[in-house]
Order: sequence, then structure tokens, then C-alpha cells
Amino acid sequence: MKQLIDRLAQDRVLSKKEFVELLCGHSEDDASYLFEKARKTSLKQFGNRIYTRGLIEFTSYCRRNCYYCGIRSGNPDAQRYRLSREEILSCCKNGYDLGFRTFVLQGGEDPYYSDQEIADIVRLIKSSWPDCAITLSIGEKDTAAYLLFREAGADRYLLRHETADPYHYTMLHPDGQTAENRKACLWELKSLGYQVGAGFMVGSPFQTTENLADDLLFLHELQPQMVGIGPFIPHHQTPFASYPAGTLDQTLFLLGVLRLMMPSVLLPATTALGTIAPDGRERGILAGANVVMPNLSPVGVRKKYALYDNKICTGEEAAECRFCLQNRMNRIGYELVVDRGDYFPERS
Ligand code: 5AD
Ligand code: FES
Repeated sequence: MKQLIDRLAQDRVLSKKEFVELLCGHSEDDASYLFEKARKTSLKQFGNRIYTRGLIEFTSYCRRNCYYCGIRSGNPDAQRYRLSREEILSCCKNGYDLGFRTFVLQGGEDPYYSDQEIADIVRLIKSSWPDCAITLSIGEKDTAAYLLFREAGADRYLLRHETADPYHYTMLHPDGQTAENRKACLWELKSLGYQVGAGFMVGSPFQTTENLADDLLFLHELQPQMVGIGPFIPHHQTPFASYPAGTLDQTLFLLGVLRLMMPSVLLPATTALGTIAPDGRERGILAGANVVMPNLSPVGVRKKYALYDNKICTGEEAAECRFCLQNRMNRIGYELVVDRGDYFPERS
């Protein structure tokens, strides 16, 4: 297995069969070997500097009905809210003062915000804080919208592909949502000059090891600048309420694999990872991740943006996630930096 890991580090990809073998046949010892290699790779690319992105969850309304997600349109008990322009800008002001130089505007697919309105919000943020990067994470839109946002100044776009397998995709999503369209959006975003982030949930219902191998092969093909992965965590008001969560071990292993595949990719240790284990994000960093995304949303709405159960950082005490994460990173020998944290090509 160690040979396979060495070859992955060298060739940046394996065959589907080899990925399957690696993902289901590794021992604990192999995992430690992978983490050490992945960690060394991140240290070479980024040093002990961890990039931060201030996450602003600006709407919990969503027209989609994904089976796994707590804010799906079919959940009548989801608590809905929208932030006004002023509220979004005030999150950014607070974030800038705290040292954030990237803001991620994330929300459900909420038609209340017209494309023009989103573009206006992007322009307003850019004009107040021109040294900051803006990342959008607002789902599938048409080309004209992606172009409009880009021209307004959006730098990056997060759109997890969720699963590369068309059949598995339909088991996670109703209403004719397709993997094909999802992937087409990602290619489109890339061609418009966004730094793009794809990704998937680890341990989502019906996911097989072959599916994960296909996810890795798709990412190898797309070569995104960012990859977001985290464990699936059930939400009690969804059709997947009784499915088991993805595991810490498998998520960490995949983070390590992704780091070897794409040495300079921006790879967050996600909130979902911190939710399934108290030290999940720290262990994510030690397995090769190099980004954290502290919550910047107003404390009063945080509990309402519940994609899954028991999400961390939603209590009053979590007002300053940045400081919490700074302490957590310092304890494992890393530091949070005040930096946009743009993608750069690999340092050899
Ligand atoms: N568990 C873990 N992650 C989830 N997401 C949505 N619902 C869940 C869940 N129940 C992830 C999806 C989406 C991102 C914003 O959150 O991958 O792309
Ligand atoms: Fe949010 Fe620790 S990062 S409370």
C-alpha cells in the first residue's frame, strides 16, 4: 500500500482500481504514512500558514430539495431567514476588522436575490474592501449570471459536485437535478476565470468506494483550485435522517489523498469535520488541509443555517470563531494568516 501512496505522490493520479484498493485496503499504519507525506507536502507549499475565509451564510431559503440537506425546500420546519445588504456588509466590516481577507457568501438557491442584486452586493463589498477576495457559493446559475457576478468582481466560486456518478447523483437529488449539469457549471465557472472549488460529502447514503474513486478521477480531470470535502451528517428532518454519518477516518484519509494529488490545492478542514469530532479540524490540517472557514454570520441566525444536526459554532459563545480557530491552530504548531489566500501554482 505504501508503494501505491508513493506512486500517487509521484503521478498525482491512480487508476480507478488502484484508488479503490487504496481507499478500502489501507491499514492504520498506511494512513499515518499518507498523513505524514501529505503534511510535508502542505508545509512545502504553504509553510505553517493556514488561510482563513469568513463564511457568511446569508439565506436559508432554498428552491432545491436535496435529500440530505436540512434547508431543503421540502422541510417545512426549517427556520428561514435572509440577510439584507446592510447586514451582509456589516458582517464584512466585522470580518475585515478581525483579519479576514476573503469573504464567502453562501446560501441556498434563493430567487429572492436576483442576479443583479447579487452582483450589486459583490460590487459594494469590493468597493469597500478592495483588498479582499469574494467567493460565491450560491448554487447552479446560468452562464449569464456567472458572467455578471464575475464582472462585478467575484473571484471564486464554490460548487461541490457532490458525486461524480450520475446514478448516485440521482439517489441524492430529486427533480431532475443531474450530475451532468453540475459538472457543466463547474467547467463554465472555470472558463470564466473563477478560482473554482468542487467537492463531495464523505459517506453520503449509497456511496460506494467506486463512487469515491470516480470523485477523485473527476477532480483530477477538473483540476479545481479548491476542494471542499466533509463527512455526511444526517439531519433529523430530512429523508436521510436515519442514515449513518461519514467517518472521521475516511474523511481524513481522503484529505491526505487529495493533498498528494494536488499539492497546491486550497483544501479546507471543514465545519462538518469539526462537528463529527471535537478535534476534527485540527486533525484535518495534520492530514494535509490548509484552510479553515470560520463562521462570520450574525450569531442570531447561525442555528437556522442547519444543513445537518449538531453543527458547531452556532452558540452565543462562538461569536469569534476566528480566535477559537487561531488557538486551535497554534496548539498544533500552525498560524492563521491575514491574507486573501489565492491559489498559486505548485512550488517544486
Ligand atoms: N451533511 C454534510 N454536509 C452537507 N451538505 C449539505 N447537507 C449536508 C449534510 N447533511 C454540504 C453539501 C453542500 C454544502 C454546502 O454542504 O455538500 O454542497
Ligand atoms: Fe467556531 Fe470554534 S471555530 S466556535
